[in-house]
Amino acid sequence: MRSYTDKFIMTPGPTEIPHRIRSALIRETTNPDLDPQFLELYNSVRAKLKRLVGAEKADLYVWVGEAMLGLDAAVANTVKEGTRALVVDNGVYGEGFADLVKLYGGRPITLGLDWRRSADLHALERALEVHKDVEVVTLVHCDTPSAIFNDLREVGKIVRSFGPLLVVDAVSSIGAAEIKFDDWGVDVLIGGSQKALNAPAGLTILAISERAWDRFKAVSRSSFYENPLLWKEMLDERGVFPYTFSDVLLYALDESLRAIFEEGLDSVFGRHEAARRASRAALEAMGLEPYPADVSCTCPSVSAFLAPRGISPSEVRRVAWERYGVMIGGSWGKLEGSVLRIGHMGVQASYAHLAVAFTALAKALADLGHKVDLGAALEALASRF
Ligand SMILES: Cc1ncc(COP(=O)(O)O)c(C=O)c1O
Repeated sequence: MRSYTDKFIMTPGPTEIPHRIRSALIRETTNPDLDPQFLELYNSVRAKLKRLVGAEKADLYVWVGEAMLGLDAAVANTVKEGTRALVVDNGVYGEGFADLVKLYGGRPITLGLDWRRSADLHALERALEVHKDVEVVTLVHCDTPSAIFNDLREVGKIVRSFGPLLVVDAVSSIGAAEIKFDDWGVDVLIGGSQKALNAPAGLTILAISERAWDRFKAVSRSSFYENPLLWKEMLDERGVFPYTFSDVLLYALDESLRAIFEEGLDSVFGRHEAARRASRAALEAMGLEPYPADVSCTCPSVSAFLAPRGISPSEVRRVAWERYGVMIGGSWGKLEGSVLRIGHMGVQASYAHLAVAFTALAKALADLGHKVDLGAALEALASRF
């Protein structure tokens, strides 16, 4: 194995942490409990995140803990014994919501859909017509393991017209795609720091609508660690954190958000859109089969594709990493052993990053006996950026 001084991380989260954000991790530390400026910074990060996800009318918190904490808390506080929850299942995380619903005593209705397409809106409508007792709908905006992207705006419209709460996992779309929390009728939105925000893993983001607060009160889950009501009471009413916050992680997230707003949201989202189109074109030029049926069903933050017949995805990843110093992703759940992924999250959504990733992929495939046309792939990539 060669030893590279730079690790080239092209996995769909955690991602490379750009220098600017990494530098924030070594900023002068403080006592987050006692430093009034830390509270100011925390509130300014909340304000930036609200702008990023269009949640100006909502409440938004950042908690220490990776994104699973936010998903768990969202379900724990909206589902109680017997709650009927419609789980939109067109991917690994989509399906996974059913386990959380059961864990908190709810009765999931799994809307099993085509895993290679965005959620079928007619099927969603029909399910809500049939199951009038549904109180909560769960959706994954971008299902990272399969790179399937769902139309949150349209799902939000439909769910709102029937009345249930809409809980959305936006862990790998936050910072990569437009989200309008207030306008699209989302009730709880969960984000994470280590995907398109290019910060270290360890922070979860929770946006909460007025209707969701009413539901949280009604569910009245007894928990200290996953209790948004406690954050409202302690942080918003008394200006104290329920527990010691990680100052360095917040510095990193703040730096990430500053970079995003300096670039401008249109440019950031446009860059991710270009990355999704260009990556698909590069895959097709290499004769590889993208997992999503169509580019419109593909996340702007990740591309997934099938390993060529007879070639093991873990071998491709091993060779790309050991010989070429580039880390690409496999998948898991039902997709483990067949799907490979390249992230285009935040800084990864650039021509230069993707050119390196596709070069390593082509070289690894060739080393394993499957020759592809790298020149055509790079040409396809370049012409769409
Ligand atoms: C769509 C989605 N949701 C949730 C998670 C969980 O995030 P974490 O690993 O930070 O708990 C991931 C992580 O890959 C994800 O891709």
